[in-house]
Amino acid sequence: MVKRIAVLTSGGDAPGMNAAIRVCIRAGLYYGKEMYVVYDGYKGLVEGDIHQVTKDFTSDIINRGGTVIRTSRLPEFKDPKVVAKAVQQIHDYEIDAVIGIGGDGTYHGLEALAKQGVNVIGIPGTIDNDVASTDETIGFSTALNTICDCVDKIKDTSSSHQRCSIIEVMGRYCGDLAIFSSIAEAAEMTMTYDHPVGEVELFKKLRKIKAQKKSHAVVIVSENLLDVNYLAKRIEEETGFETKAEILGRLQRGGSPSAADRILASRLGSHAVELIVNEKFNRVVGIKDNKVVDFDIHEALDMPRDIHINLLKLIDMLQ
Ligand code: F6P
Repeated sequence: MVKRIAVLTSGGDAPGMNAAIRVCIRAGLYYGKEMYVVYDGYKGLVEGDIHQVTKDFTSDIINRGGTVIRTSRLPEFKDPKVVAKAVQQIHDYEIDAVIGIGGDGTYHGLEALAKQGVNVIGIPGTIDNDVASTDETIGFSTALNTICDCVDKIKDTSSSHQRCSIIEVMGRYCGDLAIFSSIAEAAEMTMTYDHPVGEVELFKKLRKIKAQKKSHAVVIVSENLLDVNYLAKRIEEETGFETKAEILGRLQRGGSPSAADRILASRLGSHAVELIVNEKFNRVVGIKDNKVVDFDIHEALDMPRDIHINLLKLIDMLQ
């Protein structure tokens, strides 16, 4: 029977991770388990930075951005020798199950532990919304709201100056933040991996907007797609539209989580603990059609991510 459960966060932090930590600890205590946290993700697991916590640890954290148990990226966790060190710590602390909150990288770490006989459960936490086994990741809603808030502010100044704004948003290689924010912000153009736009088309559209004397134009671009500063320069040269590039960067990861993220985290986290209580291991939790679901971790990592064909069509209709 499972007695001790440890919780860690790994990869890029996401608003709502604290809500997930909170529910895991509270649900675990509710089911009579001893609850532990691991600081600094897999780094802390390897180094044995593992601590027992009580309910007090979870007070006043649901509304806080970031992760109170910190996070890290540990590429070395691909090395079986490093994984073996983590497994040794898990045995030394007599931890029966590990819950990892993060994105694909975190899931790969959990999978490596599972292959060494550790019982694991994954909870999707990343602003990128790039985890195939869930319709939505914890942090996506808040980051989207933050982007909208920023774009609203950029529009205030760009309209005053009649400028075009090229706004780069995060997502690693997933265009969801760009697609959803484009719809919410009525962007004139959207450029993502799944929605590429050629220079000729872009310049033509911006020339038209300039000729119509519209107060501004907003182009939302996914990160890692192109150099937005260079694109801004090219637009000015080709269209005469004064253009500024804005890279929103890590401010998209900060801030108090939205109510939607707090609730999503609470639903997913409680299910994660219940899987462990029912001795169902090596699974990841997610939300599909607004129902909490779970999948085998290996299967989840092999799933192709949904491309939002309908939303891409909607963008074409709107733009
Ligand atoms: O995965 C979340 C994310 O913010 C991505 O959107 C981005 O590509 C990456 O993390 C940046 O990571 P870091 O802050 O470690 O440079």
